[in-house]
Amino acid sequence: MFTKLARSLHDHFSANSLQLTKRLCSYTPGNKNHSPVWAWNEWDPLEEIVLGTPEMACCPEVLPEAKACISENKFDFLIKHKGKYWKSVIEPEHYKLMLDEHANFIRILQGEGVKVVHPEPIDFAKTFKTPNFSAHGVDCAMPRDFLLIVGDEMIESTMTWRSRYFEFMCYKTLIKDYWRRGAKWTAAPKPMCRESLFKENYCADEDSSAFFDEKTSILTEEEPVFDAADFIRCGRDIFAHVSQVSNNSGIEWVRRHLAPKGIRVHALNFVDPKPMHIDTTLFTPRPGVAITCPERPCLQIGLFKKAGWDVVVAPYPDIPKNFPYYISSQWLSLNVVMLDEKRVLVEKDEIGIQKLFEKIGITSVKVPFKHCFSIGGGIHCWTSDVRRRGDLQNYFDWPQELLEKFEAK
Ligand code: NVA
Repeated sequence: MFTKLARSLHDHFSANSLQLTKRLCSYTPGNKNHSPVWAWNEWDPLEEIVLGTPEMACCPEVLPEAKACISENKFDFLIKHKGKYWKSVIEPEHYKLMLDEHANFIRILQGEGVKVVHPEPIDFAKTFKTPNFSAHGVDCAMPRDFLLIVGDEMIESTMTWRSRYFEFMCYKTLIKDYWRRGAKWTAAPKPMCRESLFKENYCADEDSSAFFDEKTSILTEEEPVFDAADFIRCGRDIFAHVSQVSNNSGIEWVRRHLAPKGIRVHALNFVDPKPMHIDTTLFTPRPGVAITCPERPCLQIGLFKKAGWDVVVAPYPDIPKNFPYYISSQWLSLNVVMLDEKRVLVEKDEIGIQKLFEKIGITSVKVPFKHCFSIGGGIHCWTSDVRRRGDLQNYFDWPQELLEKFEAK
C-alpha cells in the first residue's frame, strides 16, 4: 500500500518539481539571501559542518533496542557502566587522546576553510521520564544520527533508542539560527515509543546470514521511526537502510516528505543481524562509485550497477577488532567525510581504505580520530555536513520498470 501511494505521489510531483527545484535551487556563493543549509549529496565542496561534542557524553543504557544494535560481546562492559560519564569510564590517557583528536579535527576542518559549529550538551546522566518510559541520555557527539540535511531543509529525525529521545534539545539553538537565516525546518513526528514499538522478547541472531527486514527487526510498524544516519544522499536519489532503528514506516515517512522535491527514497536491505546506520555499510564518495562492506552484502546492489556505478568492496579495517570499540564494530574505517569529490577525511591508521581511495582518484586527508571511535562513531557519525556548494542533480538513470521491480521486491 505504501509503495503504491508513494509512487503516485512521486509521479504527481516529480516531473515538474524536479525542474522547479533545479531552477530554484542553484547555489550562488556569496549570496547573503541563500539558505545557510544546503547539501544534496555526500561529495559537493564542503563549507560548513556540525561537529558533535564529547562533553557530558554517557555510556548508554542497554535497553532492548540498544541490544538489538550492539554486539553481544560488549554488553557486560556497557551494563557495568551504563549512565556513567564516559570521562569516568574510559582509561584517562585514552580519554585525553580523544579530546586532543577532537580539538585537532576542528583545526583540520578550519584549515580546509570549513566552518565548524557544535550542538549544546545537556546533562545526559540525568534520568528523564515520558508517559511511556524513563531512561537517561547518551550524548550529542553524533549529529549524523539526528540531523538529516536535504538541500535547504533540516529534518529532525525521530530517533529510536529511547535513551536518545531528548537529544533534539542539544540542536535547538543551532537549528533556530539556521532557520532564522532562511533554512527550512521540519521535525519528524515525535514517536510515542510504547512497549509495542518493540517486539517482545526479541533476540537478534548474530550468526544470521539473511537479508535484514521487518521480520527480523526488533521494531514493529506501530509508528514511523528513523535515525538520520540511515540515509545516504546522492542528489535526486536517497538510499535508506532498513535497520534496527529505522522501520519501513519511518523510511516511508521520509519518502513521502521528500517526494515534492522530486527526490526518490529507496529502501535497501543488507545481510547484517544488527544493522544500525548505513554509514559503516555503504558509502558513496562521489558520483559513480559506491563502497560496500564485504561482511554486509546488499540485496539491491543491482540498483547501482544497472545505473553504471562501480561497486567497490572495502578492505578489512587496519585498526584491530580488539581496539576499544565500546559500542560499534570496527567498520568505522568506512565512516568518512568528503571535503569534495576528490578529497576525503579518513582515519590516519586506516591504510587499506586510503589505498582504495587512491585507486579511485581520491586523496586522503589523514585525520587522527580513532580514540573518538571508542564512544560509538567515526568521522561521518561525529559530523553532519550542513552546507556544500552544488546543486540538486540526477545521478541515476533507471528505466521505470527496473525501479518498480526493486520496489515490489
Ligand atoms: N552498525 C554500526 C554502527 C556504527 C555507528 C556498526 O558497524 O557498529
